[in-house]
Amino acid sequence: MNDLNQHAHKASIAGKIIAELTKDGFAVAASDGTRHDLFPVAMDPKEGISLQEWIRKENPASVIDIGLGYGVAVINAVKVLLETRGDAFSLLTIDPYQDRRFSDLGLQFIGEVGVNNQVEFCKRPSELILPELQQQGRKFDFAIVDGTHRFEGVFIDLFYLNNLMTPSSVIFLDDYQIPGVRKAVAFFLSNMLWTMEQVSEASELHQWAVVRTRHEPLERTFKDFIDF
Ligand SMILES: C[S@@+](CC[C@H](N)C(=O)[O-])C[C@H]1O[C@@H](n2cnc3c(N)ncnc32)[C@H](O)[C@@H]1O
Repeated sequence: MNDLNQHAHKASIAGKIIAELTKDGFAVAASDGTRHDLFPVAMDPKEGISLQEWIRKENPASVIDIGLGYGVAVINAVKVLLETRGDAFSLLTIDPYQDRRFSDLGLQFIGEVGVNNQVEFCKRPSELILPELQQQGRKFDFAIVDGTHRFEGVFIDLFYLNNLMTPSSVIFLDDYQIPGVRKAVAFFLSNMLWTMEQVSEASELHQWAVVRTRHEPLERTFKDFIDF
């Protein structure tokens, strides 16, 4: 199989995994044989399609995902990345509870698609990983944020992403209906000149928001603060 066919083949495996998970609503973990009901913890199908559209539009080379969980968001992302970039992409995903809580199902699906060379997994909390990535000078063109959903956790994630993202790049956030998530985002919109690109329709389970980081570095004095 030539490279082009191989990428298309892998993208079609990703598509089949998404279709099966959507239809069945559960998965059985190869690691320990346990059965997991996926929804509403995993990204829902409508949101997955929106994520795919944003990745297709933005065409990022490097993606960071906070909160691998069942890997549904990552498999949606990987499908489009394979279709648009072949194997010329990298995706870093973070989840401290992947084995304990998710029986490694996210990693299982990544292995089934065959993108272990493109995907890097960190099994520690984002609040510890992100500062390390900044210290290493890493940069990302697109972020998926679906980790902790407490205000302080999301705020810390976004604080570091503000330093890690290339200018004017997109952050796709799940669970914008949760007050703590919304409040954390509000700071970056009002004070860091991020822009809101999309808010999905209201939903008690999965509302998503798509924000864009600012174009240029921002000079702020200690007095520059807009209440949010
Ligand atoms: C709602 S689930 C993510 C679902 C995933 N996006 C999907 O589509 O299957 C939230 C995830 O965040 C992870 N998480 C919780 N605290 C975290 C932290 N401090 N850093 C990174 N991930 C965290 C959980 O283990 C869980 O996998």
